[in-house]
Amino acid sequence: MSWQELPKIELHLHLEGAAPPDLIRRMAKERAVNLSRVFAEDGSYVFDDFAHFLQVYEAATGVIRTPEDYARLTRAVLEQSAEQGVVYTEVFLSPDFCGGGDLGAWREYLQAIREAAAAAERSHGIVMRGIVTCIRHFGPYTSRQTARCAADTGGDWIVGFGMGGNETMGRQGDFAWAFDCAREAGLKLTTHAGEFAGPDSVRQALDDLRVDRIGHGGRAIEDAAIVKRLADTGVVLEMCPGSNVAMGLYPGMRAHPIAKLRGAGVKVTVSTDDPPFFRTTMTREFEGLARAFDWDETDVAALTRTALDAAFCDAATKKRLEDRLKTGTELP
Ligand code: HPA
Ligand code: ZN
Repeated sequence: MSWQELPKIELHLHLEGAAPPDLIRRMAKERAVNLSRVFAEDGSYVFDDFAHFLQVYEAATGVIRTPEDYARLTRAVLEQSAEQGVVYTEVFLSPDFCGGGDLGAWREYLQAIREAAAAAERSHGIVMRGIVTCIRHFGPYTSRQTARCAADTGGDWIVGFGMGGNETMGRQGDFAWAFDCAREAGLKLTTHAGEFAGPDSVRQALDDLRVDRIGHGGRAIEDAAIVKRLADTGVVLEMCPGSNVAMGLYPGMRAHPIAKLRGAGVKVTVSTDDPPFFRTTMTREFEGLARAFDWDETDVAALTRTALDAAFCDAATKKRLEDRLKTGTELP
């Protein structure tokens, strides 16, 4: 079995950020939108830094408009993930992009996304669940509306609530109302922290938002007390090493803190974040980690097991996935 065929679980993927550039170009053409500043000459996404990345991301997202567009996007993304051996994926969905935060509109987008996911499960065997995500730089007021959308549609398919966007704006605690609302509705919680912002942002995520998982969290390594707290409490990190390297946070995989955090007893998992933006795939992540840290199939199986345990889906779904993992975990 090759690295690509190895069954994988992904917990941190932004739906629009996973959009194949060709699909975005096709949608832009259909709508007569000029996206020349979104793409480089070779056809890939182009940006200078994180703030610019978010601008390019939102410009590309601007051409994905209707529920049918989101169904096309979901199909394309799940086919792409299934090709990389992903058997289960938790995907960040943004009501702010899907209907502008209006609950009625969000339900229509969600229905289209779910139908596309059900079709992908039938054709490719990949299982998807959604995490409704507020966008930090849209501010705390908007996050309340997003949380209401999450609370109203949460259940066995929308399984979590999270926050992405520009981590350097505001404080985690500014969004506590939204996270409390989602928690009361029975949703599991995650937030981006410790990617660009320092270890104190991880502390704030734990204290003020009481999350179950942290998106990234790499900068926790700068504070021994936070590392110990993560290890003691078992809060799981959704790490995206290729994304961090592409963003210039670390010069290469070897410099990424994932191995040190794992060595300190922190539960770490591996995801791609926005794969075409960062020129990565789940296969490339694992190949890169294996090369950088001399990790073998036992290490990869352990990371995948951690991801399965940390998934927000119900026990019956986990059992089904566990059976699928058992059938193929040996590398050549
Ligand atoms: N980080 C933070 N927010 C985001 C990202 C990301 O990689 N992609 C889309 N929103
Ligand atoms: Zn992310």
